[in-house]
Amino acid sequence: MIGRRRPKTAATAAAVVTLAAAALALSGCGAISVTSVAEQEFVNELAIPPLAPSTVENGVRTFQLSAQSGETEFAGVGGETATWGFNGSLLGPTLRASRGEEVAFEITNQLPEATSVHWHGMHLPAAMDGGPHQMIEPGETWRPTWTIDQPAATLWYHPHPHGETEEHVYRGLAGLFLLDDDASRAAALPSEYGVDDLPLIVQDKEFDRDGGLVLRQDGSEPGMLGDTVMVNGTVGAYHEVTTERVRLRLLNGSTARTYTFEFHDRPMTLIATDGGFLDAPVELDQVRLAPGERAEVVVGFEPGETVRLHSAKTQLGGIAVPFASGGNDEFDVLEFRAADTLMPSPEPAWPQSADAASDALHEHEASVTRPFVLNTREINGEQMDMSRIDEVVYVGDTEVWEVRSSQPIPHSFHIHDVQFRVLSIDGEAPPPELSGRKDTIYLEPDREYRLLVRFEDYVDPEVPYMYHCHMLLHEDEGMMGQFVVIERGDEAAVRAPEHAGHAAS
Ligand code: C2O
Ligand code: CU
Ligand code: CU
Repeated sequence: MIGRRRPKTAATAAAVVTLAAAALALSGCGAISVTSVAEQEFVNELAIPPLAPSTVENGVRTFQLSAQSGETEFAGVGGETATWGFNGSLLGPTLRASRGEEVAFEITNQLPEATSVHWHGMHLPAAMDGGPHQMIEPGETWRPTWTIDQPAATLWYHPHPHGETEEHVYRGLAGLFLLDDDASRAAALPSEYGVDDLPLIVQDKEFDRDGGLVLRQDGSEPGMLGDTVMVNGTVGAYHEVTTERVRLRLLNGSTARTYTFEFHDRPMTLIATDGGFLDAPVELDQVRLAPGERAEVVVGFEPGETVRLHSAKTQLGGIAVPFASGGNDEFDVLEFRAADTLMPSPEPAWPQSADAASDALHEHEASVTRPFVLNTREINGEQMDMSRIDEVVYVGDTEVWEVRSSQPIPHSFHIHDVQFRVLSIDGEAPPPELSGRKDTIYLEPDREYRLLVRFEDYVDPEVPYMYHCHMLLHEDEGMMGQFVVIERGDEAAVRAPEHAGHAAS
């Protein structure tokens, strides 16, 4: 696999050339390719990632993960496909922990190359963040540990090696990390994992004739759009519904594709976004998710019916060539088959968390405003340099980050360590789906997103956190910057990080 950069086999290279030629013919322009999504038969039972086992000793919950290579059989794809996964050949187990718990990990890299494991959406010390400064060499084990200190949410984990994130995620390294708290435990919500509380990792991929993964890097923006959409690694998946309502924990785990999820004939109740519950449930017909974003929705079903979760045409904002960025693609994602009798489910509701007041962000506390402009693989005119600190932030401060894409191609903006609140988009209040806790946001070109961010708890003048575009090709090509969180007066301790930090032993 891995198209143009290192074709592994002649067949892969040939497939890449053919696709590139087809794209060229279609678009009349070498820099734009078009892949629409192939129709599937929805005949394969949806795989549910297993819940990761853990052991608790002295109050510390410990998980074992091993990044490894293997073979996966995808329905409709001839033969075995070489893939990567955690504790298996594809994707990873679902991690689960509660607010207040101390967690620890033993992560072994059994891959032939260095990788890292980043906890997307997690509030934690920079040295535990798993970014490009915490690489795990082949054969090594990394042991991060921290205390979960944020509201219940659907987070995820994935590699973050600088310049290689697209490839590592595309090969299959990704998993969910669910957080619980008092509010989520007391909520009236479907909550039986894999039954009426479904983890849904949505990704698109492409295969060559021998079943190998193809990752084309042919100048397409915002990266490769695959013609095969899968959920939890299952192509053409169905799920048997046994309850009146089902909660979908949607993760866009794709490298470049933005989805617009909908059911043709019913609304969804949006209950949570990236960082946790909304203030109140919101009925929506559609939910747009860019790479890295999550949404939790509750959907109602009638006995005996079969319906599909669909991805509709996507409004990408002022994009130069929307169809080339997947904006015109429409396809089914997952089929639901409801049983003839359904168990009753509660009307979605949840109490306020005991920590709601201290979790809340207040605009009047903001002391600093920082502009971020995304353009041509640069943020504020600079490409990522691992040995440069771009922003220095004081612990405890609330800031406004004013983010704008000044280029007519899709970008999304993600900040490590924090959950932010969208104050405004072009001066207007955000829509309800963008009014909750967020760590990643799609940037419509030429609009100003004002994000309210608070940097709490963890100071480290030597280890930075990242902010970047979550279109993974863009991230790899340098659309990323680094910030440190320090104590006031500690400026002299801020040091340029060594180029390749190694965290593992
Ligand atoms: Cu999901 Cu810096 O990444
Ligand atoms: Cu992240
Ligand atoms: Cu981008």
